[in-house]
Amino acid sequence: MKTHTLLMPLDMHLHLRDAVMLENVAPLTAYSFSGAIVMPNLVPPVATLDDVVAYKERIMAAVPNDYFEPYMTLFYKNYDKAFLESVAEEITAIKLYPAGITTNSEGGVSSFDIEEMRTTLQAMSDLEIPLCVHGETDGFVMDREAEFMSIYELLATSFPKLKIIMEHITTKAAVDMLDKFDNLYATITIHHLILTLDDVVGGMMQPHLFCKPIAKRPEDLDALLSVALQAHPKVMFGSDSAPHPQHAKESCGCAAGVFTAPIALQLLCEVFDQFGKLDNLQDFVSDNAQRIYGICPEFKEVTLEERPFVVPANYGGVVPMFAGETLSWAIESID
Ligand code: DOR
Ligand code: ZN
Repeated sequence: MKTHTLLMPLDMHLHLRDAVMLENVAPLTAYSFSGAIVMPNLVPPVATLDDVVAYKERIMAAVPNDYFEPYMTLFYKNYDKAFLESVAEEITAIKLYPAGITTNSEGGVSSFDIEEMRTTLQAMSDLEIPLCVHGETDGFVMDREAEFMSIYELLATSFPKLKIIMEHITTKAAVDMLDKFDNLYATITIHHLILTLDDVVGGMMQPHLFCKPIAKRPEDLDALLSVALQAHPKVMFGSDSAPHPQHAKESCGCAAGVFTAPIALQLLCEVFDQFGKLDNLQDFVSDNAQRIYGICPEFKEVTLEERPFVVPANYGGVVPMFAGETLSWAIESID
């Protein structure tokens, strides 16, 4: 039986939510990952030192005894340097959302005026706080990410020492940016390494595959696969696992988000194995992130095995990607 062992898997983009949903989903990630960058788009967003500390405590309380480190983020606003100094020890990154672009992002940035943002971004650069960005404009849905490339370029050239992470990239245009600017990095989800728009709306519409940014064209998928499978040193795995209750997905006005936390490592093994690249998965799912963020997660060893695994229909009322379908890798043991 073929097996594959991963050391200290990291999910560099995760939505854990709060309250009952947090208690439902946090143990699923804590089971198989050593740590995760936790998104701040709660209602209201995580935007003060108290918010960060209290949210981290709630996460730790929701997680069983497994070792798991929540790497906390702050919701981007134009903060001053004194505030950023006071919060720097408690956060791993700051997440920037364009206003209204996705779930709970209404308080995000409404104008990318570099002068308005300079104090904050320069302070982040000085304090070595990475900037994670949801890079979409409010343009035509298939063009939103590509249209955002000029903003990445502006940010990257204006703050050359600031680490900027293009979150959940979905296009060849974003892949092409990686080698153009030293300070640009990217996370890639597992669903964007599998899906194109055809899978979402090409046949019967699939609400559980609907997310933002939406899956794009076959040539985009190929570009994402090429950098992920070779574990390009500037790309990291970030699931963007985004749980919504079943009724919010299977409804008129489907919420955006694909829930992959409990099947992410199994699917990663499946995709990397399918292309004969299992040996590169460790870099993609942990080592690149450790180097880019300068983090040292505690030891965790996850062994997966090539055998059928039927994805549960739901996890506490949240329907995962590929619910009811059979995957070809399963988690065998965790130490
Ligand atoms: O599909 C998404 N869901 N994209 C995001 O950017 C946010 C996320 C969520 O929080 O549900
Ligand atoms: Zn997200």
